[in-house]
Amino acid sequence: MEFNRRIRKESLKNKIMSAREASNFIVDGMTVATSGFTPSGYPKKVPIEIAKRAESGEKIKISLITGASVGDELDGELSRSGVIERRYPYQTQKDMRDNINNGDTFYADHHLSHVPQHIDYGYYGQIDVAIIEALCITEDGGIVPTTSVGISPQAIKNADKIIIEINTAQPLALEGVHDIYMTEKPPLRKHIPIYKSDDRIGKTYIDCDESKIVAIVESDTPDDVRPLGEIDENSKKISNFIIDFLGEEVEKGRLPKNLLPLQSGVGSVANAVLGGLIDSDFTDLTCYTEVIQDSMFDLIDAGKVKFASGTSFTPSEEGLKRLFDNTEHYAKHCILRPMEISNNPEIIRRLGIIAMNTAIEIDIYGNVNSTNIMGTRMMNGIGGSGDFTRNGYLTIFTTVSTAKNGDISSIVPMVSHVDHTEHDVHVVVTEQGIADLRGLAPKERSRKTIENCAHPDYKELLLDYVDRAEEGKYKHTPHIIDEALSFHERFIGTGSMKKEKKGLLKRVL
Ligand code: COA
Repeated sequence: MEFNRRIRKESLKNKIMSAREASNFIVDGMTVATSGFTPSGYPKKVPIEIAKRAESGEKIKISLITGASVGDELDGELSRSGVIERRYPYQTQKDMRDNINNGDTFYADHHLSHVPQHIDYGYYGQIDVAIIEALCITEDGGIVPTTSVGISPQAIKNADKIIIEINTAQPLALEGVHDIYMTEKPPLRKHIPIYKSDDRIGKTYIDCDESKIVAIVESDTPDDVRPLGEIDENSKKISNFIIDFLGEEVEKGRLPKNLLPLQSGVGSVANAVLGGLIDSDFTDLTCYTEVIQDSMFDLIDAGKVKFASGTSFTPSEEGLKRLFDNTEHYAKHCILRPMEISNNPEIIRRLGIIAMNTAIEIDIYGNVNSTNIMGTRMMNGIGGSGDFTRNGYLTIFTTVSTAKNGDISSIVPMVSHVDHTEHDVHVVVTEQGIADLRGLAPKERSRKTIENCAHPDYKELLLDYVDRAEEGKYKHTPHIIDEALSFHERFIGTGSMKKEKKGLLKRVL
């Protein structure tokens, strides 16, 4: 049978057991690290059994570390059953997010490039169990990942015990797409020899100490992929501004004709921005990114993108079908790497990545909030946006200029939470326009951002703030500190940041 055939090392076959039996290796107080990244390649059978035990009254609280967001079978089931006491480093599942925001789960939001090395350094304590979804186990006992790599290599290396879920719903044709390279710990660390997006430097499987494998479980559940939003007018406008801007950079000699490797963030706007390149004149593009979404398949098929390196395939349901129906074709154009490598600052700096990420809000000086709605409600986490923004050749942030039917301006005097500072943000783009902030002093940045990117409903308010702030004594980064978050206060107090909603804003107006 297919499942048995995928365990190519005979001596491991005696580790086959049910998901329920395997779940017994996880008990209260443990730290568990799993495969999975934006929800691809995560374990789907064993977590459900842990949740059932908790629901039937057993006390189980664990710390959970993943690559990034995972599907409902893991974050959802374990959140609803109250199992996750601590969570690292990125999540998008609704119940998980609710538990974080209501204080039931302690969450620490870490740069994705840090997580694998922090596992290696012991910063998360000992990893008791790793649960890894695999395509197959090789004759030598190597573990072949599925649709993502994430932290799996470091989880396998550092865990006391390993549970493997072999998922027969994941096509074996994916074997060979992975490139697993491990770094040493300082002071033995050497440079990582990647000079182009398509350089292969490692193995197609993860080395694994056979004696640590305690269970092998059969799975046939597909990834709980999410739909991508329709490419709307705003996304198209944002995409066009970026494409025109990149064309101008080529003309000025600041970028080669086929650009530099592209990184594009998560979500519908990010997918649309990349998708817009199809109608552009750019060819021979390469990508060195984190997630490979549907638009990447379009670009590959259109002959625009030669090669894409990432740590996961993150398609929609249709995208997943397309990938699985044409796995060999896409595998020729893609590599999946450990997230320590896909998000590595050394490589991002060396390759000269063009980083394009989405913000929740951006302030007039260029500071970016990617994570906390109104400064307090955690959305998803910083993900890899900090890795690419801090180290990219050119860093671009996009956002639609308003949210909540126009009641919120995404351009504000001061962000309510800071993920990326003004020092790292080069270009801001909304559907209103593009602001190239490179080389500008704060006072120039603020006016350019408002003029080019703010929604017309908010320009007057923002310029009024800037005018009055600039009357203050200190002229470098003018602010009226006690008014700086007044836009947010007004929304919280009246349900809109708009001028006519005077409410709490007497001080500003
Ligand atoms: N103020 C308040 N709420 C805002 C807002 C603002 N300025 N801008 C957006 N929102 C709300 C939206 O209304 C929506 O709320 P809802 O879930 O209640 O409907 C939510 O934030 C998400 O907005 P949406 O427009 O759907 O965002 P998106 O899918 O484009 O994602 C991020 C945007 C920032 C959440 C997402 O890109 C992210 O998680 N980024 C951080 C990680 C990252 O960049 N990873 C990539 C690295 S490779």
